Amino acid sequence: MIWEQVESYEVLSARAADIFLSSIRQNPRLVLGLPTGKTPTGMYERVTAGCKREYHCFKEVTTFNLDEYVGIAREHEGSYATYMRRHLFDHVDIDAARTHIPNGNATNLELECRRYESEIGDEGGMGLTFLGLGRNGHIAFNEPGTPFRSRTRVVDLSESTRAANAAYFPDGNVPSQAITMGIATIMSSKRIVLLATGSGKQEAIARLRSREINVDFPASALWTHPNVHVLVA
Ligand code: PGA
Repeated sequence: MIWEQVESYEVLSARAADIFLSSIRQNPRLVLGLPTGKTPTGMYERVTAGCKREYHCFKEVTTFNLDEYVGIAREHEGSYATYMRRHLFDHVDIDAARTHIPNGNATNLELECRRYESEIGDEGGMGLTFLGLGRNGHIAFNEPGTPFRSRTRVVDLSESTRAANAAYFPDGNVPSQAITMGIATIMSSKRIVLLATGSGKQEAIARLRSREINVDFPASALWTHPNVHVLVA
């Protein structure tokens, strides 16, 4: 695991955007795993600015989002589909057919989870996945106690996770479930970059740094992966 501590959120975002864009330059057909949340917005801003300066950077790139809420439409203001359009997809030359987000409104959610896993497999797996870090060590919506062998599935959201995301649902109807890639799905990515910033994350960062591997701290699974880069500000 490579640890890189930088001096500010701006530097963290620039560094993450560099890794993102240079990986696409190296492999224009890259399959990416992508996060939502507050942390990666600065990275996406720099990626879209950088992409505008280059010719056809996303043309053959494929993306898989880590998660999506259950029971809300893609067009809903708080959906991760809306987030991705707003922060990335609407600003780059990506082929919409190559962008994948679980469908939290599918009639058969179990089937949707299996379909999502097999789509990732059909693309040969993710080459590079970016992750945020939850205060309790969650990665995607894999909360403490999630088995490391977990795959894409429907999960109940903890009250703290719902509270952390309530701002995206001003009507107060914060979803109570989500579809999330499992820990094993994330770990199947060839390379992983985890971004963590802010005073609220320092405890989780310290716990990750302690190297103790424990299902009560989902991010600790990353210690068993051969190619993880942790960027901290
Ligand atoms: P945040 O979320 O980037 O909004 O802090 C990270 C996470 O909980 O995974």
